[in-house]
Amino acid sequence: MKKLFLLFVAALFVASLSACGGNQVDIGIVLPTQNEERWTQDQERFKSYLDDTDYSYEILFSEGDSQVEASNIDTLISKGMDVLIITAHDSEAAKTAVQNAIDEGVKVIAYDRLIDLEGVSFYVTFDSMVVGNQQAQFLIDNAEGTGNELYLYSGGTWESNAPLFFRGAWEVLQPKIADGTFVVMNAPAHADYINQAELTTEEALEIMTQVDTDWDPAATTTLAQNHVSTFVPADNDTTAYILAPNDFTSRAIRAEFISVYDEVIITGQDADRLSIKSIQDGKQSMTVLKDVRTLVDNAFNIADKLMKGESLPTATHFYGENDVPAVPTEVVVVTQSNLEAAIIESGYYTQEEINDAGQ
Ligand code: BGC
Repeated sequence: MKKLFLLFVAALFVASLSACGGNQVDIGIVLPTQNEERWTQDQERFKSYLDDTDYSYEILFSEGDSQVEASNIDTLISKGMDVLIITAHDSEAAKTAVQNAIDEGVKVIAYDRLIDLEGVSFYVTFDSMVVGNQQAQFLIDNAEGTGNELYLYSGGTWESNAPLFFRGAWEVLQPKIADGTFVVMNAPAHADYINQAELTTEEALEIMTQVDTDWDPAATTTLAQNHVSTFVPADNDTTAYILAPNDFTSRAIRAEFISVYDEVIITGQDADRLSIKSIQDGKQSMTVLKDVRTLVDNAFNIADKLMKGESLPTATHFYGENDVPAVPTEVVVVTQSNLEAAIIESGYYTQEEINDAGQ
């Protein structure tokens, strides 16, 4: 009888363990929004990577809302996550919830957007200043003579990478604005910095707030429409040069400017499938490919080491006031001439997947 009872207790114990196992999350992933291809792409690439590992994981979206983000983090803490990989919607606003996770013993990896807290174990990122450098260099390489009409646009000023993209672009563009190659048509605040290549975040924000896309397609369209009616000269049978911070803002801005300029040379970022198609069709001029496969791979390797208590890679860069360690990943400029190799032959997307994104 005693034996039977013990067996019964043991069976109950096993049953409750496996029920726990069903809910238990080793790696919690929190991404900012499902409304942008950039982040659904990260979701898909995380899934296909993590499905091949032994770790359990869960991916939650914050829908551009810091409160949803905080409750996502709490949910994952309650499921016993060991490692949190997070792209914050707003990195400042996320600090309280992330600190809470750290206090609960969770290891945190900031993914693509920095969270400047002492307890963050690693920052897995691309080199965002270089993204801006490359966008600017592309515009310069495609301009001749002087007086070229340049429009500047910024990512959402509330987001931690946007100033890096803008400062990176400014440091390359500034000498070409100062020598008259380009004339900045919008963003009057740029005039205060015309002789200064390196901007602090605060200085960059003074210009950025005048040309803030808010990382929102509708806001970008409204802003571009305002600029078209306010700043475009009457005799505009020429080329507009446009610094667009990423792909969806690029497509929205181009749609407005192409109706008033003969030609639009415009940058992008992310290699969204719609923008890849647009480049193939000779519309958007370039994008900056940030290979999410590499970022996912890096994030997993760090998570795996944290889980096993192994030492992390030696940092090459330190970010923020807390010197969060990082080894930034390279980015690649994609234009019509290298698109086939960089996107299709590299297996990033098939032509069919690009076409499927619609038009
Ligand atoms: C990312 C970009 C993205 C942007 C808007 C940035 O933090 O680095 O890839 O386009 O946010 O979501």
